[in-house]
Amino acid sequence: MYRVAVIPGDGIGPEVIDGAVRVLKAVTGRVRFEYYEGGVDVFQECGSPIREEDLEEIRRSDAVLFGATTTPFDLPGYRSLILTLRKELGLYANLRIIPDLRTGREIVIVRENSEGLYFGIGAVVNGRAVDVRLITREGAERIARFAVEQAKARGSFITFVHKANVLTGDKFFRRIVREVAGEEGVEVRDAIIDSFTIKLVRNPWEHGVILSENLFGDILSDLATVHAGSIGIVPSGNYGDGIALFEPVHGSAPDIAGKGIANPIGAILSGAMLLDYLGLDGSLIRAAVRGYVVNGELTPDMGGRARTEDVVRGIIGEIEDL
Ligand code: NAI
Ligand code: MG
Repeated sequence: MYRVAVIPGDGIGPEVIDGAVRVLKAVTGRVRFEYYEGGVDVFQECGSPIREEDLEEIRRSDAVLFGATTTPFDLPGYRSLILTLRKELGLYANLRIIPDLRTGREIVIVRENSEGLYFGIGAVVNGRAVDVRLITREGAERIARFAVEQAKARGSFITFVHKANVLTGDKFFRRIVREVAGEEGVEVRDAIIDSFTIKLVRNPWEHGVILSENLFGDILSDLATVHAGSIGIVPSGNYGDGIALFEPVHGSAPDIAGKGIANPIGAILSGAMLLDYLGLDGSLIRAAVRGYVVNGELTPDMGGRARTEDVVRGIIGEIEDL
């Protein structure tokens, strides 16, 4: 049995994770699901968004399925649960797959998740604020290797998005990406971040595996979700050397929480990525989702009138028919 730690979170997190777990149970009996709390309530109780003893158990799991949590702007000392987990579990690679559910095309984005401007060195001194943008050889090599594996698995190439015409860190990063990809015979195409945003809007499906540092990758991957029709259907994986965490890219969506209309497809496709990671093959789930969207009613974010429950049942029905 594989052990999967499930952290539903709050807002629509529990609503979509419930759907994802039911779909996973419909395709495999080889996973045991263990549930954990996390977020603001836990922080108020113990000063961390996740309990230390839970974190120890989560580290011993084979993978994590995460929903979403609300992060208040004004809670002193609070760092969001997902950022805490990425750091604590050493999850340096973020893979976002933006699907076009009707044609099967995808935008694949690999974002460096641990360095860049989000490393967390910043200070305000004498009226000057400074944030350090850290790029290390080790960090660049491991994310380049990750992107190379993704490109090879897809018989594709890498588009490395950067500002190497200006930034020292990106010149350094670019050289390392080319070294690593060159050893593996994977082609690397250059794209400069500012003009690349236009390409990502106009012809999003033509860039192979898009690789970038933390901030650029964050912005590009949110922008790219527009091509999926709704942020609610986009899955992601966070990978490290020990464990991996899978989550829909959306947040806790307080505006629709509790109404039973959240789109569960991002969480369900995250479950498919989780199965791939465990070696259990998520393609059955992807086929069921594709089968469902052809004729099935979708949730309001996709212009339909379905409820979360209708979509989950419909996808499970497709699995039973496949
Ligand atoms: P959001 O993704 O929660 O919502 C943005 C918009 O998309 C809203 O209109 C929402 O209704 C809609 N939406 C999102 N997911 C949907 C789904 N599955 N089905 C249908 N509609 C969906 O982003 P926002 O509003 O920026 O953040 C809300 C809260 O979520 C904040 O507290 C933020 O910090 C948190 N957040 C948490 C994340 C995480 O836990 N990984 C990631 C992003 C935001
Ligand atoms: Mg973001």
